Amino acid sequence: SQGNRVKLVEVGPRDGLQNEKKTIPLATKIELIERLARTGVSTIEAGSFVSPKWVPQMANSSEIMEHLLQHKIQSPGPLTYSFLAPNSKGFENAANILKQNLRAFSTQLEPSIGGEAEAKPAVEVAIFAAATESFSQKNLNCDIQKSLESFKTVIQDSKALGLRVRAYISVVLGCPFEGFDVDPHKVAEIATDLLESGADEISLGDTTGMGTAPRTSALLRCMAAAGIRNEDIAMHFHDTYGQALVNTAVSLEHGIRTFDSSVGGLGGCPYSPGATGNVATENMVYFMETLGMETGIDLDAVADIGAWITEEVGRANDSTVGKAVLGA
Ligand code: HMG
Ligand code: MG
Repeated sequence: SQGNRVKLVEVGPRDGLQNEKKTIPLATKIELIERLARTGVSTIEAGSFVSPKWVPQMANSSEIMEHLLQHKIQSPGPLTYSFLAPNSKGFENAANILKQNLRAFSTQLEPSIGGEAEAKPAVEVAIFAAATESFSQKNLNCDIQKSLESFKTVIQDSKALGLRVRAYISVVLGCPFEGFDVDPHKVAEIATDLLESGADEISLGDTTGMGTAPRTSALLRCMAAAGIRNEDIAMHFHDTYGQALVNTAVSLEHGIRTFDSSVGGLGGCPYSPGATGNVATENMVYFMETLGMETGIDLDAVADIGAWITEEVGRANDSTVGKAVLGA
């Protein structure tokens, strides 16, 4: 039933890899995405159209997008590929590829009617705002107000192409520069602005992993008080303090059903010193299973991928569940 269903957004290929210093071969990234698609994951954040000067690891996102549109990727159900685009320049770079492959993806303009259309992946654009002025300056090179104004253009242009838009808000439960004092009302205000601009979903980013159960609960109550619906919210927990699953439990109780996670617990943020990875997908899938919630994702398959990709990038496997499942 609908009540038991949880959507996990796999952010490993983007959030998980963006901070890696050593260039990861294109073929490895594509293999990662293809393997994830086969596990039953429905949305994969596949790349980022940001400045290669700032995030060199994401520089080949165009090639990734092209590959995904030009090859049939096997998956048990419909797939959505998500790509970050922080400004018009990033969006135009993505749009150029999309316009050359217009028949390769399904859009919101022509709702899929089953059959062949079902087999086409959807593409989603992800923009990212911040809950504090310091983080906005560091991550986006502008203040919050200016970022919200420029996102309006990106949202409009995305909609014109029939693309769904996800909007992140970073540092909602703690900021590396401003500490724990992030105002939940400010988060709700930014979320409202983004939704009114046309964003389809808000992903609340606990970028630093500083979120705690009581403050996660307070944030979600504040969002509800501002009239934001649970179905428009995703939670994006980093596990720096090991609180991600606790905060996930609180969010589930609140009625949230979309969560971001990263295979092998890969990740970090280039502008968030000390931030470790996203909560591991393996841990999320296992946790949801213990609660009788359905993710549609094959735990053993994700555990295998976690072990493989962490080895490929030369990192420890940060998924406790992944290691337990594999007996490693
Ligand atoms: P800007 O205002 O143009 O200023 O970009 P800049 O000085 O940063 O620009 C540097 C160069 O990049 C310029 O080129 C720009 O034209 C170019 P130059 O004149 O030196 O030759 N440029 C671009 N190139 C390609 N694609 C673009 C683009 N934009 C500018 N889109 C901007 C400001 C923020 C766009 C830029 O600084 C940037 O791309 N920064 C990287 C931000 C980033 O990727 N952060 C990590 C992702 S967010 C995240 O991880 C958080 C999240 O996971 C949720 C959570 O955990 O909280 C989503
Ligand atoms: Mg993140």
